This record gives sequence, structure tokens and C-alpha cells, in this order.
Amino acid sequence: MRQNFRVLTLLAVSVCFALPRAQAQGRAVDAESHAWWQHAVFYELYPRSFADSNGDGIGDLKGIDSKLDYLKDLGVDAIWISPCYPSPQVDFGYDVSDYENIDPMYGSLKDFRHLAKDAKKHDIRIIMDFVLNHTSPQHKWFLDSASSRTSRHRDWYIWRDGKAPGVPPNNWISGFGGSAWQFDPKTGQYYYHFFAVGQPDLNWRNPAVEKAMFDVTRFWYKRGVSGFRLDAVDLLFEDPNLHDNPILDGKNDLGDPNMENKYNDKLPEVHTELKKLRKVADEHNAVLVGETYTSNREELKEYYGDHNDEIQMPMDFMFCEVNKLSPPDFRTQIANAESTGGWPVYVIGNHDMTRSYNRYGDGQHNDQIAKLMAGMYLTLRGTPIMYYGEELGMENNDPTRKEDVKDPIGIAGWPNEKGRDGERTPMQWNDSPNAGFSTATPWLPVPASYKTHNVATELQDPDSVLQFYRHLLALRHHEPALLEGDYIALNQDNPNVLSYLRRYKNEGILVVLNMSATTQHVTFDISAQGFASVKATALLTTSVPAPSGQLDQVALAPFSVYIARVSQ
Ligand code: NOJ
Repeated sequence: MRQNFRVLTLLAVSVCFALPRAQAQGRAVDAESHAWWQHAVFYELYPRSFADSNGDGIGDLKGIDSKLDYLKDLGVDAIWISPCYPSPQVDFGYDVSDYENIDPMYGSLKDFRHLAKDAKKHDIRIIMDFVLNHTSPQHKWFLDSASSRTSRHRDWYIWRDGKAPGVPPNNWISGFGGSAWQFDPKTGQYYYHFFAVGQPDLNWRNPAVEKAMFDVTRFWYKRGVSGFRLDAVDLLFEDPNLHDNPILDGKNDLGDPNMENKYNDKLPEVHTELKKLRKVADEHNAVLVGETYTSNREELKEYYGDHNDEIQMPMDFMFCEVNKLSPPDFRTQIANAESTGGWPVYVIGNHDMTRSYNRYGDGQHNDQIAKLMAGMYLTLRGTPIMYYGEELGMENNDPTRKEDVKDPIGIAGWPNEKGRDGERTPMQWNDSPNAGFSTATPWLPVPASYKTHNVATELQDPDSVLQFYRHLLALRHHEPALLEGDYIALNQDNPNVLSYLRRYKNEGILVVLNMSATTQHVTFDISAQGFASVKATALLTTSVPAPSGQLDQVALAPFSVYIARVSQ
């Protein structure tokens, strides 16, 4: 049974690897009018958890550097490094105390220089995480701001009087629980923090803040960075009149009333600011990736800017919020992303959400389903952003006792909300203790499944999730139809099978994904799309037996992927 998959993947691989490496990585088609980031595969890595070079149980920059060969072989073109700046680590780096340095636990600016140099040699770009909505209270700007009502940096943050003694300025709730206002007895005012108390919001209405933050981006551009992932960008501005937000029914997992963040989320000023930030990025051929939580197509569209002059890559979380293997729901979300006029950005996991392996897995066919999800989002038109370990089928390892929880959200919300530790566990490199991540006890424990789901073991197994990712990414990099072909939805009434054609000039690639637990039979007539062929040539499939190639009788095993070339 497994043999068939092996034969077909080897077939696919021999096609891809027959090309010189640079060409297999897609450079050949970069000559078209696409920007570098449109053909790139992005990979988010959480530096605490990727690779520990100095045996302290926490990952670091040298660790990342040592794994560039792995990333290159996998087919990664750009790494997004979650925050590695100096930080008290209240929110594991999303509370920055110095934007222009590296936290000693991760290394130094010198290590960053080495990493940037080595990454360049590997033709891998670096994207930094830009935490622009807030700093740590340990940042020198905040220390000065909090020192007196008349300090130079007072207006760099949002300070207000309470409504009455002991009553905060308004009813806004922090995403980390409780009021979004923290009273500071020294100056007798409250400061605003959308996230933790240790994450005071910057005042983006102050031009000095804007200038200082734009300069931060220039600092990193000069050091070879190719762009930024913009953290919490929806939240940059607040209503200056501090209107109360409307309260909704019920409570959230942290026990606070549900609230519509009408006056502190997605204010129109965000777009004005993004246009300016984009201008700076354009001077450096850089890309802006947005942490954009949108609830409809129009909001997503807005983030690209009316003239594609804001964020080039706003992440589409509506896509990963489908959270079930539902072809109709995915069709809708893909159609949404396709219709914005911007370049789609697909993500199925990150450091803030339960791993895709758990969200989509049914407990019995998780590896097949992990391949199925990859077969979908890595073959769509747009740029994918992978999350480290997803390519192994890494699973969540949630804490089981409150005393083990590290994430502030898990501490505040236990037991309803266990926090995000589970999806941030160390990368699984091999089956030795701590999954080969560190010689010390890692900051978070690895799940038991590391014994089978790790890089070394999976590289030996032609049917592993990792091998599937490698083959798929190789295919993606060298097939113009996958890189920039149109997306054409097929068989749109089928509730079990998601299928589409990627069409580029006279080339076509058919992608068929059985999202059900039973064998499915599908028929394709793609003559209307300009493809007369009734037979397809398999490029990659997980269906056992493999489909015959006759388009009028495609039989797909449960949860299988079939990717095939069609001709005119
Ligand atoms: C979004 C980040 O992804 C998340 O991890 C963090 O807690 C918040 N922003 C605050 O920076």
C-alpha cells in the first residue's frame, strides 16, 4: 500500500530535482513581474523553541544559524523570527525593552550579523517581528514617560485620569484579562495597555513616536532584514475621546464581559500610518506582513490599501479559522482571498493558535490530514507562511497543571483557557531526549510523539509528513502554474472534495483534495478552462491506490491529495 505513494513521490521528486537548485527554488520564474515575496515560502520560527546552541534550554540565534541547511532543503525562502529583542519576557518577547538589540538569551547583534550573512548565503531572507503597538514598561521611553507628567516622553504612551478615584478612564478590557488601564500611583494617572500590564500601548498620534518607530525599521533594514511582520497592527490607534465600548452578551474565557472593540480596534487612522510605513519599506524592497485579524473580506481588502500601498501580505486568519475539513467553507474563504485584489497570504498555524495537526486531525488519520492541509494551502495562489514543526506533524502539548503554565493568558484563564504554551514547544529534531532541541531541560516540554515525529526519523521515512512537505515545496518552487497560475475552482458543489486548477499560460495543474473519511469518486471536465486532455499525469499523490489519471474517473482514498498535470 505505502509503496504506491513512494513511487509517485519519487517520480515527482525526480522531475523537481533534475533542475539546478536555484531554478528548482523558483528563480527562473521570478523574471515575471512578481515581487520576491510572492514566490517565497515563509516560515515562522519561535526563537525560544527552535534550536538551543548553548545548552540553557532556550533556543537562540546560533541555533537558528545551525539549521539553515535544513530550512533550505525543506524549501523555505524567508524566515520570520518571532521577537528576539531585549525583553523582560512577560509575553515572551512581545514586550520589547530595546528595539535595536538582541536579548542576551538569544545572542547578540554580532550573532545576528552572522545569521544574516549565512542566511543570505542560503538565499533565505529574514523577516523580523515588529511589535509596534506597545513596548515593555522597561523600555527607556516608558521609564521616562512614567517618571513625571511633564517628562519628555510622557505623551509617547496613553495616560489619562480615572473617571473617579479608583475608576479607570473607560470600560475597555485587556486581551489578557481585566481592565485595559493600569493605575500608576507615582503620577496619579492610568496608562493604557491592550495586552498585559507589562505591555503599555504607544501613542501613535504623537509624530515623535512615528519617527522613532520608523527609524527602528531602518535600523534593521540596514542590517539586511527583508521586511517585518507587524504585530497587533489592528490596534495601533484608540479613540482620543475614549468612548466606552459596547458590551455584548456573555463572558470570555478569561471571565471578562464580551465586548465589541469599537473604539480601540481597526480605527481608520491605522491605514494612514500603514501607507507611511510602507513607503519606508519600499525604499528597501522590503515586505510588510500583517497580523491582521479581519472578520470579512472588506476589512482584509482594506489592509492591502486602495492602491496596494499598505501591507503587501496581510495574513488571512479567516482561512485558518475554518477549523474543520470543509470544502465549502474553504472554497468561500479562498474566493474571498482571491477577490480582494491583493496577493493572498495563507496560514494554517502560528504561535497563538492550537497547532493545525490538532485542529484538523481526527485522532486516527492525523498524518494524512496534515498532508492534506499542506496539499491545499501550499498549492493555492498566494504566499504561504508555515509554522515551525508543522512540516513534521508536531502536535500541541498543553500544560495539565496550572503551576506549569508559562503563558500569561493561560495563567489568567486557567482552566478554561490553557494559554499558548502547547503550540510553542521545542522543535523536534530527533528521537533523543528533549527531541535533540537542547542538552538541558527545555523551557517547555516536548510531547511524547517526538519519538516518531522528528526531523531525523522522518527523513528516513519516504511516507512521512516531512517528506511530503519537501516534495510539495520542491514542486511548488519549480512549477510556474503553482507559483503564479490563476486559481480556478472546480466541482464547486462537491461537499467532500475540494478541487481546483492552477492555470498559467498553456500549463495546468489540477489539485484534488479528499477532505472526507471515505473514498470519493470525482469527474473533471476542464475543456471550458481550455484543457482538452482527458488524462492527467500525477505529480504527487497520497491516494493509495493512486488515481489512474483518467479525468472522468478519479478515485481518491480518504483524506488524500492528488496533484496532476493536465495539458491542452
Ligand atoms: C500578537 C502576538 O502574536 C501574540 O503572541 C502577542 O501576545 C500579542 N500580539 C501581543 O504582542
